[in-house]
Amino acid sequence: MIVILLGPPGAGKGTQAEALTQKYGIPHVATGDIFRANLALGTPLGLEAKGYMDQGTLVPDELVVRLVADRLSQPDALKGCLLDGFPRTVAQAEALEAFLAQASPPRSIDACLLLEVPDEELEKRLTGRRVCRGCGASWHTIFSPPPVDNKCPSCGGEIYQRADDSLETIKNRLAVYHAQTKPLVAWYQRKGKLKIVSGLGQPAEVRQAIFQALG
Ligand code: AP5
Repeated sequence: MIVILLGPPGAGKGTQAEALTQKYGIPHVATGDIFRANLALGTPLGLEAKGYMDQGTLVPDELVVRLVADRLSQPDALKGCLLDGFPRTVAQAEALEAFLAQASPPRSIDACLLLEVPDEELEKRLTGRRVCRGCGASWHTIFSPPPVDNKCPSCGGEIYQRADDSLETIKNRLAVYHAQTKPLVAWYQRKGKLKIVSGLGQPAEVRQAIFQALG
């Protein structure tokens, strides 16, 4: 099963990913997480991606497509995967479709699930988001405050604010989403693969709606 989790920054893609990967027994492939992990290790890929991420702009298609093709060729992803944050442009979607079609046997995505949340709510979610450097767990300063010592209860990692979660960069990320990623909604609708779920409400409610949409 190959599922794309599509949605604007802060829609809750990362929040919903774990339950989905557990239910469907597929790995979570999140391009943003891969870039951040590379940055933490100081790899050339991480350092190249950093400039784009800090501005809230997209890493060039060619670089992202190569990275995802490599990840999808690994044994655990041959049974399927949950794609989070990829594709983000029509060019990336076309490259994904071509990559899957040339597999033996040919593969294709099962569904593209769009999480819809209004921009005003996204700004609130992202400015308050805090994340664990170790395991990626996330909190919100108002809705689900992190521990006062800023240490993750699960892995002991430091809880921090992502560099791209400043209001200025958030506004830029949202503009980039509307200009470059939103056209994918019509693209997947034309292919008959689009499923739309509201990302508003408690995370558990959103999860149930996603399970229902995916069947
Ligand atoms: P990436 O890491 O993919 O970031 P994003 O898409 O901007 O998404 P986020 O991680 O910010 O949000 P999310 O939807 O996962 O929300 P979350 O669950 O955390 O990408 C970062 C950068 O990498 C990009 O800007 C780009 O530069 C680069 N990049 C990545 N992929 C690329 C690609 N394919 N091509 C080119 N460049 C690429 O939730 C957010 C907050 O809301 C949390 O605090 C959470 O607790 C809270 N929350 C979640 N659900 C709810 C709810 N139902 N109610 C209330 N609060 C909620």
